[in-house]
Amino acid sequence: MKPVNVGLLGLGTVGGGTFNVLSRNAEEITRRAGRGIRITHAAAREYDAGSLPGIDDISVTDDAFSVVDNPDIDIVIELIGGYEPARELVLKAIANGKHVVTANKALIALHGNEIFAAAQEQGVMVAFEAAVAGGIPIIKAIREGLAANQIQWLAGIINGTGNFILTEMRDKGRDFDDVLKEAQALGYAEADPTFDIEGIDAAHKLTILASLAFGIPLQFDKVYTEGISRITREDVNYAGELGYRIKHLGYTRRTAEGIEMRVHPTLIPERRLIANVDGVMNAVLVNADAVGPTLYYGAGAGAEPTASAVVADVVDVVRVLTADPENRVPHLAFQPDSLTDTPVLDMEDISTAYYLRMQVSDKPGVMADITRILGDAGISIEAILQKEPAAGAERASVILLTHVVKERRMNRAISQIEALDSIDGSVTRIRLEHLNVD
Ligand code: HSE
Repeated sequence: MKPVNVGLLGLGTVGGGTFNVLSRNAEEITRRAGRGIRITHAAAREYDAGSLPGIDDISVTDDAFSVVDNPDIDIVIELIGGYEPARELVLKAIANGKHVVTANKALIALHGNEIFAAAQEQGVMVAFEAAVAGGIPIIKAIREGLAANQIQWLAGIINGTGNFILTEMRDKGRDFDDVLKEAQALGYAEADPTFDIEGIDAAHKLTILASLAFGIPLQFDKVYTEGISRITREDVNYAGELGYRIKHLGYTRRTAEGIEMRVHPTLIPERRLIANVDGVMNAVLVNADAVGPTLYYGAGAGAEPTASAVVADVVDVVRVLTADPENRVPHLAFQPDSLTDTPVLDMEDISTAYYLRMQVSDKPGVMADITRILGDAGISIEAILQKEPAAGAERASVILLTHVVKERRMNRAISQIEALDSIDGSVTRIRLEHLNVD
């Protein structure tokens, strides 16, 4: 059968990895796909030809639109990243009747609803496995492998850069900025690394996972997003003393009132497997009614792990090229006319446990004031740790773990604690999830 022609947009970290994996494994990939798959055209402003053996045999241009408009191309792989011109290029490719494979989580999270509607109209596929958790086939797992289940919640370490930074800080006492520079050099970080450290990248990915899990439209603007930039080594150490690890977690849960979608640093009991996922590795823990908990683990960023997911999508697309569009796996796991408008909860309405750290005057009655405020608010305390002032200092650190409570109630209690004369500065609050599966 005639080989499938692919146009590759972007020859950076993931684009280069995709070119190399497709070339190196061409023979086995053909045996899997049933047809040859060849990149005939690529678009890139600059690239390192020395690291791309065979790149001189294909046509490379700096005009990405000429690739999406080329009638000889069947599948466009978009690996440019960012919102624009990626959105315009993808919509153009779809309008031209081409299937699209993308690793662009920002694009799918913000414009996926529009893109999938356009794709459905044209009868083409948009595949995006590489958009979430790098090389882990989590989209396929949720969309197909868990199709029998009602998913209750999922929790993921879904930003490799952030996990790499937190791990190096904890294990080697390294400085935040120094580790971030290394993550950039290794090709893990986004073009704008604030997307990694402020949680935006993880929020893009959580938006996609929540849609697949619960059959709701993509709603990036409803995700509560907090990054890791304010995590201190002190908190990492105190959490450790209490038997927890701090991880940057994306968490989504279906409750009777609505759906929680949140990304923030989170204490997790260190005995949980997911608490031990370190470095650039990602993991997603899915709790579903029939199968129970399942855990997916693998490299969350980097050239070839991400290329692994991109190329698998290309193989998937090639396999269904001749299938009737109605019989394809729907983009967002549920049939497009069966998505629901279940409300997404405001952050004040979510329920979770908390780690609180505060600097207090080392004098009688302070602890009683704090516990009274929490008691009056109906917040029960699970553990207390008090650290004596350092030599010559006047303030002691008090660390509290609470049971589960509504965020609104905790916000009020924190304001009252911060108003006490005996409290210095603001209270550090980190949410805590036990991730119980029974
Ligand atoms: N910057 C992202 C990360 C790349 O570190 O996870 C993979 O999506």
